[in-house]
Amino acid sequence: MLVSTLFTVTLLQTVSASIVWKANIHIVNNYIQPDGFNRSYFLHAVLAGTSSTVGTFPGPLIVGTKGSTFFLNVADHLTDTTMLRSTSIHWHGMFLHGSSWADGPVGVTQCPISPGNSFLYQFSVPDQAGTFWYHSHHVPMQYCDSLRGTLVVYDPYDPYRHLYDFDNESTVITLADWYHLFTVNGATFQPPTVLVLLQILRMFLKYVGIL
Ligand SMILES: *[C@@H]1O[C@H](CO)[C@@H](O)[C@H](O)[C@H]1NC(C)=O
Ligand SMILES: *[C@@H]1O[C@H](CO)[C@@H](O)[C@H](O)[C@H]1NC(C)=O
Repeated sequence: MLVSTLFTVTLLQTVSASIVWKANIHIVNNYIQPDGFNRSYFLHAVLAGTSSTVGTFPGPLIVGTKGSTFFLNVADHLTDTTMLRSTSIHWHGMFLHGSSWADGPVGVTQCPISPGNSFLYQFSVPDQAGTFWYHSHHVPMQYCDSLRGTLVVYDPYDPYRHLYDFDNESTVITLADWYHLFTVNGATFQPPTVLVLLQILRMFLKYVGIL
C-alpha cells in the first residue's frame, strides 16, 4: 500500500476531466442521477473522481500515449457501510507484461484496497494503442454500481490520422447501463442513456460499451 501523497498532480475537477498518465484516482460514494432518477432511496453509487469528495459516472477519462508508463494511484474514500467499502481497479485490455501484480483482480493479483488507503498501480504500455476501459474488479456489483470509465492510449503515429479532423476527449462516447436498483452480479434491467451528437467535422469516435 502506498499513500496518495506520492504524487503532486494538478487535476481538473469536471466530468470530462482528463487524467494524465500520472494521477490520483479517488473512489468515493455519492448520489447521482444520470437519467434523472435519484437512486438514493436504495444506495449510493460508487464513483471514481479526481478529488476525495467528487466522483463521476462514467469515471474520469484516463489518457496516455503509446510507449508511456502509467502511474495510477487509487485512493479509497468509500464511506457507505451498506455497501462494500474496499475496492480495486482493473485496466481492461492492457497486457501488463512484467506488471501483472497491477492487474487489479481481488483475490488473484492483490488484496482489496481498504477504506482510507491507496494502492499505486504502475504499468507500461509499449505496444498498445486504442480505446480501453477500467473498472472495479472487486466482486461484480461494484462496477455495475458505476465504478468504471474509459482509458485511451493514443498512437502518435496513428496510420489513420488522415481520416479525421480531431480526436480528443469530446469524441469519446461511453455506452453504459445504469440500474435503478442496486446490483447483484449485474442482474437488474434499465435502458442505457441515449446520446445525441451533431458535428460537422470528422471525428474519430471511440465507442466504449461498458455494460
Ligand atoms: C438524492 O438523494 C439524496 C439522499 O436523499 C439527497 O441528499 C440528494 O440531494 C438527492 N439529489 C437530488 C438531485 O435530488
Ligand atoms: C476537441 O477538438 C475540437 C476541434 O479542434 C475542439 O473544438 C474541441 O473544443 C475539443 N474538445 C476538447 C474537450 O478538447
